Amino acid sequence: MSKAAVANRIELLSLEEALDINRQATRDYYREYINPGLTKVLALINFDKQFVRAQDVSVWDAEGKEYLDFLGGYGALNLGHNPPSVLEAIRRVMERPNLLQASLNPLAAALARNLALLAPGDLQRVFFCNSGAEAVEGALKLARAYNHERPKMLYCNNSFHGKTFGALSVTGRDKYKASFTPLLPGCEGIPFGDLAELEEHLSSSDVAAFIVEPLQGEGGVKVPPKGYLRGVRELCDRYGTLLIVDEIQTGFGRTGHLFASEHDQVTPDIMCLAKSLGGGVFPLGAYIARPKIWDAVYGGMDKYALHTSTFGGNTLAMAAGLATLQAIIKQDLPSQAARQGAYLLEQLKALNDKSSLIKEIRGQGLLVGIEFNQPTSGIWEKLSSGKINSLTNEYFGSLVAGELLNKYQIITAYTLNNPNVIRLEPPLTVSREAIDKVVDAFREILEHSYAQVMIGSIGSALWSKLKN
Ligand SMILES: Cc1ncc(COP(=O)(O)O)c(C=O)c1O
Repeated sequence: MSKAAVANRIELLSLEEALDINRQATRDYYREYINPGLTKVLALINFDKQFVRAQDVSVWDAEGKEYLDFLGGYGALNLGHNPPSVLEAIRRVMERPNLLQASLNPLAAALARNLALLAPGDLQRVFFCNSGAEAVEGALKLARAYNHERPKMLYCNNSFHGKTFGALSVTGRDKYKASFTPLLPGCEGIPFGDLAELEEHLSSSDVAAFIVEPLQGEGGVKVPPKGYLRGVRELCDRYGTLLIVDEIQTGFGRTGHLFASEHDQVTPDIMCLAKSLGGGVFPLGAYIARPKIWDAVYGGMDKYALHTSTFGGNTLAMAAGLATLQAIIKQDLPSQAARQGAYLLEQLKALNDKSSLIKEIRGQGLLVGIEFNQPTSGIWEKLSSGKINSLTNEYFGSLVAGELLNKYQIITAYTLNNPNVIRLEPPLTVSREAIDKVVDAFREILEHSYAQVMIGSIGSALWSKLKN
C-alpha cells in the first residue's frame, strides 16, 4: 500500500494538534522523522525547550518564562521577532496571487528598485531567491559565466557561504566538506585578511571571482584589518577578477552601516543578501549585480531564463522585504547597531581584563564574538587523563551557551566554524537594559573556573532532564 493510501486511513495530525504537541513528542518525531543526531545533542545540553511566543528580543516558553534572544536567528532577526509592520504587510497582500509566473510582479519591481537605491555604487540588477545559499549559487554562476575563460574561484579559509554544492565549494571549513568531495573544481582557499596572498593568487589572471565576507561571522566573528576590503577591491580590479561580497549575515544594519562594505566604501561586483531581508518572517534571498556584468550573461530574450527560481520574487516575500527595508531605514537601525554594539563591546572588554577564561572579544556593531582560552592543565585535566581538556577545547563555547540558557534565560550559540566562540547577535532593536542583563550573566559565569562552568552546565541539563 502506498504511503498516501496509508495516510488516508490513519489520522494525519492537524495544525491544531501540532500546536499541542509536547516537548517529549516533539523530540520523538524529530528523532524518527527529521534528525536523530541533532535531537540527541540538543537534549543533552537542554537546548530543546519549547517556545510558544516571541516578540522583538524576547521569547517565552510554555511555562511563561521569558528568555532574551541574543542569537537573533543567526542574523535573520535584525528587526526582532515578529515585527508588527512586516506581519501587517504580509496580511495586506494575502489576497493577491502569491505565484503567477505568467506576469510581472509590481512588488518585486518595487523591492528591486529600493534595493538598488540603497545598495553601494551602481549595483542594480536583482535576482530574488529563497535563502542565502541560493543567493551565493546565483552569484557564483553569474561570475563563472561572465569570466567564462577563467577556471578558478577564490574564497577565504574559515569562511561560511552556505551548504549547497556550489556554496559549500567556496566555504572554508573541511568538516562540512569532507563527506561531499569532489566539490566544484578550481575553488581555492586563502587566508582571510591577507592582501599579499590574494595578489599572489590573482596575478595568474585565471581567477573568475573572489568571494568574501566583509567580516567572518561563522568563522568566529573575525574582523579583518582596516582597509582590507578596499585593498581587495583594488586587486580584483587590477587582475580582472569579479568581487562577490557576501553580506548575508552582515547586511541590513548589523555592523553599524546598512551594508558592511560601506565601512570601506567598496562597491562589490555582486552582493549576496538574505537572512534579515525577509524581516525574519519570510525566507528571502537575493543577489544584486552591476548591470554590465548581469547584462552580459542574462541580457536579451535568448538568455533571460538561464537562472530562475519558482518561488523567487513571490508576493508574500516581496511584501515582507518592502516592509523590512522601510522599518530598518525609518528606525535608523544601522546607527542603533553602531551605538549599542560599541556599548556591548566596551562592557564585555571590561570583563575580559579580569577573567582568564577569555582569549579575545571582538566585533563590529551588533555582531560580537567572545573567544575562550584553551584551559591550562590542572587537577581536572590530570583526573580525566586529558578528556576534559579536549572537551573544553572544542566545546567550551557551547557549555557557556548552555549555562546562559538554562541559568540566565539568555539564548546564544557558538559560531559554526569555531565552536569555541560564542556569538552575540541580538536584534538591532535591543535595549541597554537587555545588554546589561547579558553582561551581568557573563560577569557571574566568568568568575568561575573551567571545571565549575562544565559542572554547572551539565548539571543543569541533567537536572532539567530529571524534572521532565
Ligand atoms: C555569510 C553567510 N553566507 C551564507 C549563509 C547561508 O545562508 P542560508 O542558511 O540562508 O542558506 C550564511 C548562513 O549562516 C552566512 O552567514
